[in-house]
Amino acid sequence: MSQIAIPFDADLIRRYDTSGPRYTSYPTAVQFHDGFGQDDYREAAARSNATGGPLSLYVHIPFCDTVCYYCACNKVVTKDRAKARPYLDDVYREMALQAALFDDGRPVDQLHWGGGTPTFLSHDEMRELMGKTGEHFALKTDDSGEYSIEIDPREADAATIRLLREIGFNRISLGVQDFDAKVQKAVNRIQSFDETKEVVDTAREEGFHGVSIDLIYGLPFQTRDRFMQTLDRVIELDPDRLSIFNYAHLPQRFKPQRRIAGDDLPSPAEKLDILGSTIGYLQQAGYVLIGMDHFAKPDDPLAIAQAEGTLQRNFQGYSTHAECDMVAMGASSISQVGGAFSQNVKELDRYHEAVAAGRLPIEKGVVITEEDVLRRHVITELICHFRLSIHDVEQRFEIDFASHFADALDELADMARDELVTITPDSIEVQPRGRLLIRNVCMAFDEYHGSLDGQRFSKVI
Ligand SMILES: C[S@@+](CC[C@H](N)C(=O)[O-])C[C@H]1O[C@@H](n2cnc3c(N)ncnc32)[C@H](O)[C@@H]1O
Ligand code: SF4
Repeated sequence: MSQIAIPFDADLIRRYDTSGPRYTSYPTAVQFHDGFGQDDYREAAARSNATGGPLSLYVHIPFCDTVCYYCACNKVVTKDRAKARPYLDDVYREMALQAALFDDGRPVDQLHWGGGTPTFLSHDEMRELMGKTGEHFALKTDDSGEYSIEIDPREADAATIRLLREIGFNRISLGVQDFDAKVQKAVNRIQSFDETKEVVDTAREEGFHGVSIDLIYGLPFQTRDRFMQTLDRVIELDPDRLSIFNYAHLPQRFKPQRRIAGDDLPSPAEKLDILGSTIGYLQQAGYVLIGMDHFAKPDDPLAIAQAEGTLQRNFQGYSTHAECDMVAMGASSISQVGGAFSQNVKELDRYHEAVAAGRLPIEKGVVITEEDVLRRHVITELICHFRLSIHDVEQRFEIDFASHFADALDELADMARDELVTITPDSIEVQPRGRLLIRNVCMAFDEYHGSLDGQRFSKVI
């Protein structure tokens, strides 16, 4: 992987520094439309039952005590803990509506609480939420599912972690972002190493199967050297996985980001330097690069899935369980069921209105076409494994790759000249420095990208 250190010259950066999707789904959420409604979702659920198999559940808890200026998540910032009560009651209403659509007994292989900050809830509320979920869906009680929760270490202590283990969680992912004091101040997220370590240590003592840490590169005042110092501290915590997200700066969409001055952000060249150095640094520390922004220890299920060619991508990033249909509950959450995507309304009052009236709170969605399935396969292979077997795609989808993807191959020819990819009659290989620009490579196969509003997406570098 030493070639990652190859410098990107200014011309190359200018040509590739566009905006584009992160491909946690294909088609991306921009293709969701409000013509998709409850009946479409019911039909999708029926198709899902016909296929059967395990389910993946997601519950969105939108509340946060304070705002981090960089945040692009769907959240409600409030100090009023009482807001959780009516919201949970609404989630239980939605849960009952959703559960009625799926065959009883489909085992829940994967469960995830995301946010916002799920531990904004009190201990009693978290216990209750897991209990209600178990009344409606077939949760596994033998610790064999992959049950994970997003933790803000400022909102959790040892007792919280013990409770989460007791109610069935076995994986946690912790938001850290950066340990540097200047960066933390600039993004309004003051979080000490010690409070983070307490959570990690307790998770280990309690027998959690996996600890994952989120960092962001591209935040104000970050430099390569300062970010390497954060990595040193993170490596001390010895996480099983790391997500190193590229900061998505879209101040026109996310108001708190307007408190971050554009001039304080690292330049595209500095960001590439941070990313390239991070990859080298973490590989030396024994981690494997998983796709675009994840790292894992070589014996972690994600690394094994990548090595075996079974890695998938979904709304939570990379996953070993994407074959499960995902039933998502809570405001703004996105389900992927029976060949369709569907997203709930974001505003809590509209969410309440729908479920109180006995309606599924769907805002929009899309039914996936055969062409989408083909392109999704190509994009998933590239973003997960950095390699595509043309022969395999031709066999699987009964197409002639060269004519079907003539436009994409044209675009890739430029990238081949820039040593980002290598194309042979039978394969496309993403080269080490192309891995840093994997979103550009995937965009070549995105049928909708040319027609998309660039403002919706973050910068790829
Ligand atoms: C939904 S947040 C929840 C985590 C939890 N509330 C916390 O802050 O610890 C999950 C992760 O998304 C990432 N994230 C949030 N905003 C982002 C942005 N604008 N660009 C890139 N990553 C972002 C952060 O790394 C964060 O830890
Ligand atoms: S990063 Fe986490 S705690 Fe901060 S505002 Fe976003 S969801 Fe809330």
